Amino acid sequence: MDVLECIRTRRSVRSFKSKQIENETLNKILESATLAPSSGNLQNWEFVIVKEKRSKEELVKIALGQNFIAEAPIVVIVCSNQKRISVYGERGDKLYSIQNTAAAIQNLLLAAWSFGIGSCWVGAFDEKALSGFLKLPEHIRPVAMIPLGYPDEKPIKPKRSEGIFWLEKYGSKA
Ligand SMILES: Cc1cc2nc3c(=O)[nH]c(=O)nc-3n(C[C@H](O)[C@H](O)[C@H](O)COP(=O)(O)O)c2cc1C
Repeated sequence: MDVLECIRTRRSVRSFKSKQIENETLNKILESATLAPSSGNLQNWEFVIVKEKRSKEELVKIALGQNFIAEAPIVVIVCSNQKRISVYGERGDKLYSIQNTAAAIQNLLLAAWSFGIGSCWVGAFDEKALSGFLKLPEHIRPVAMIPLGYPDEKPIKPKRSEGIFWLEKYGSKA
C-alpha cells in the first residue's frame, strides 16, 4: 500500500477480531512510531504495551467506559517524557511534547493500517487514573491510548470539511 492510499483509506476502528498480532508486525509498527520527527530529535515518546485482559478492562474504566478498548489484542499507551523535552522550557513542556508524540501516534496508526491492522486514537481518559494504573513516574505523561487489532467492522468514511486554505496571508483566498 503506498503512503497516499494508506492515508486516504485509514479509519478509526472500534471493533476488533480476537486474532492476535504477531510480534514481528507489532515491532515494525512500534519502530515506525519512533521514526517520527521530533523537536531537536529529542524523541520524548515512550510506549507502554498492554496485553493482559484484566488490565485492558481497567483501561476501559479509565477511558470512561469505551468498551472497544478491551476487544483489541493490544493497547499501546503513548507517553511523553517531560524531562527529556524540558530543555525547551515552556514551549517544550506545553507544545513540543504533544506535537512530537502526536507525530509518533500518526506514524503508528498508518503503519498499523498498512498491515491491515485497525486502531483508534483514544484521548478521552482520566489522566491521573491512567498514570496511577501504569505506575508512571511523575515526569511521564500519558498522551493517548491506541488499541490495535484486526478490524471486525468496515467503518464508513467520516465527513471531512474541504479544508481552509489561505494564500500568503490569512484571509486571502487560495
Ligand atoms: C486527540 C484525539 C482524541 C481522540 N479521542 C477519541 C476517543 O477518546 N474515543 C474515540 O472513539 N475516538 C477518539 N478519537 C478518534 C476520532 O473520533 C476520529 O479520528 C475522528 O472521528 C475521525 O475519524 P477517522 O479517524 O476514522 O478519520 C480521537 C482522535 C484524536 C485525534
